[in-house]
Amino acid sequence: MACKRGALIVLEGVDRAGKTTQCNKLVQSLQQSGRAVEMMRFPDRTTIIGQLINAYLEKKSDLEDHTVHLLFSANRWELVPLIKKKLEQGTTLVVDRYAFSGVAFTSAKPGFSLDWCKKPDVGLPKPDLVMFLQLSPAEAALRGQFGEERYETSAFQRAVQQKFEHLMKDLSVNWQVIDASQSVEDVHKQIAYHSLNAINTAQNLPLGELWK
Ligand code: TMP
Repeated sequence: MACKRGALIVLEGVDRAGKTTQCNKLVQSLQQSGRAVEMMRFPDRTTIIGQLINAYLEKKSDLEDHTVHLLFSANRWELVPLIKKKLEQGTTLVVDRYAFSGVAFTSAKPGFSLDWCKKPDVGLPKPDLVMFLQLSPAEAALRGQFGEERYETSAFQRAVQQKFEHLMKDLSVNWQVIDASQSVEDVHKQIAYHSLNAINTAQNLPLGELWK
């Protein structure tokens, strides 16, 4: 019999919620318990498409809003063969942002419906678990200033948060909301708990297709 597949685990949340720190901690703890696990992040700025996105985020280039949305999606699709291969080989993937960020950020711009924004990502590998690190704008502000990249303003981040809240009403996705105002260790414990459940469940299930 083929080996049991790995789980596709995604962390989402507004800026400064601690996604990257928690992804690293989760990967480390799963590795220490002897599991095959790797981290990925979107945008993946290392590919040619990723470099276009990077220049846009660093405000070194301007791109039309529909165009950049499609580039973010293309950046996920170009990694789908690798994602599928890793999962089939039994490696669990911990992913820092995915299609949910794609939809939440673009649909926070004027003139973009949630429905239009979802379309290019329909059919991507469906995460077995999406954890949303919840942090109020006031708590986020206590964690320091925003950076210099595009989208890093409190008004835009509030709009993004509302879009995430819409997306979380979709019960076809396995959402878990995590209170990111707790200590790093307490947040990690909850993330590890949900992740172990997802890994155990996913190994006997086929990989799904997102929003299909
Ligand atoms: P990062 O800071 O996690 O590298 O994310 C880069 C920025 O890109 C962040 O502001 C969120 C935004 N983003 C999108 O607008 N669309 C997407 O599809 C993704 C993955 C991120």
